[in-house]
Amino acid sequence: MRLGAFLQDVGHHIAAWRHPDVPATGGISFGHYARLAQIAERGKFDAVFFGDMSTIMYPEDEALGQTARAVHIEPQSLLPALAMVTGRIGLISTASTTYNEPYALARRFAAIDHISGGRAGWNIVTSWTHGEALNASLAALPTHDERYVRAEEFVDVIRDLWDSFDDDAILADKDSGQFFDPARLHVLNHKGQHFQVRGPLNVTRPPQGWPVLVQAGSSDDGQALAARVAEVIFTAQTGIEDSLAFRTKIRARAAGFGRDPDGIKVMPGVMPVVGRSRAEAEDKFHRFQELIRPEIGWAIMRRHLGGHDLSGLLPDAPVPQDLPLGEGNQSRIRLLMTVAAREGWTVRDLYWYVVGSRGHWLLLGTAEEIADQLEARFTAGAADGFNIMPPWLPGGLEEFVDQVVPILQRRGLFRTDYSGTTLRDHLGLARPRGRYSDADTSIQQVSR
Ligand SMILES: Cc1cc2nc3c(=O)[nH]c(=O)nc-3n(C[C@H](O)[C@H](O)[C@H](O)COP(=O)(O)O)c2cc1C
Repeated sequence: MRLGAFLQDVGHHIAAWRHPDVPATGGISFGHYARLAQIAERGKFDAVFFGDMSTIMYPEDEALGQTARAVHIEPQSLLPALAMVTGRIGLISTASTTYNEPYALARRFAAIDHISGGRAGWNIVTSWTHGEALNASLAALPTHDERYVRAEEFVDVIRDLWDSFDDDAILADKDSGQFFDPARLHVLNHKGQHFQVRGPLNVTRPPQGWPVLVQAGSSDDGQALAARVAEVIFTAQTGIEDSLAFRTKIRARAAGFGRDPDGIKVMPGVMPVVGRSRAEAEDKFHRFQELIRPEIGWAIMRRHLGGHDLSGLLPDAPVPQDLPLGEGNQSRIRLLMTVAAREGWTVRDLYWYVVGSRGHWLLLGTAEEIADQLEARFTAGAADGFNIMPPWLPGGLEEFVDQVVPILQRRGLFRTDYSGTTLRDHLGLARPRGRYSDADTSIQQVSR
């Protein structure tokens, strides 16, 4: 089983910062993140994982000022610092294909991979909020289609840039004066719809060949991108059947691209709340829920349902099943309508759930019960592992590491120590040999 620690400033729960045991301003403290990464490494997690967006969260007027999530340290800057205070754990950061340039991003992730000795991962997203467009000299969010067309080209370019130097290109021959072999340097000369990039990259091939390619965004377009290029998929899945159907479909689509389906690890998010009894776990969760002010609660609900005006919705009415998917996060709107229909939820029920876990799988119980549930999904083939989203930090992560991980280890489901040094080693992913290597079949599959 693969485990990622998805670390949202001071916790996945929106009101975590108000809890007495939580350092409210931890999201802007390096010491806080260092401690979290060390706890996750003690738990032998595959990676720490950071989401990101280049805008303030929940800027709606009535909720303004009510969330600590408004501020956090930019994760690509954070990862190299975390590499210095950890030794083995993988380091994954989100970065958008809509608001970055491939050359600049290729350099940054190559740098993180070099600095960390091969522990970097890039979570590919197309972004979904209007606020980011407004910070990127655009009048509006590009359409869902446009974003994914750009993302497909972006990933091709960035992978090719990482392959600029062959692995053995550097000679560093002091006697002859030849630093590298020009025959082993490749100039890209890419001319596409969105990007014109000559190359080559001014850094040698990353230790992992390519940093691990993670992807989040589960619409049909998102799945198409993932099936072609992703090595890890971060997705929100609530029911075991949906999760199994998602993984089965993505593996079949990957095979359609000529890929080995085992080269993709599907890791849904899960927010665990651990108690000594189920009642205690529920109590704990309710204490967090009571800390949510309604203005921020409705801002979250509105955002995850596509930004529509929800004022016409009656709290005790069933959740509408015809909400427009819009141009933002389509898979999340679809997921929330599906789970509401399946569970027979009212608007009030959905509010309780979405504000608490943002639509991810909410798992309340004892450590044994949580381990049982994770094991059931894993052995059913519904997941290769999970991104653990502790509701509050550092306590929620400590509880998982100290109480749930040992059970998974005793059951032989999870490692008791690292056996390799790179993130690819931890995840069981092959190192890509490089686009220009003759013997390389993995590159030929995806070459344009
Ligand atoms: C589990 C999950 C996590 C995501 N994390 C982020 C994130 O950290 N930052 C971000 O801008 N978008 C994130 N996204 C959304 C992506 O930006 C995505 O490309 C976009 O919303 C379109 O999503 P869709 O393909 O599901 O419609 C995430 C999506 C999913 C499913």
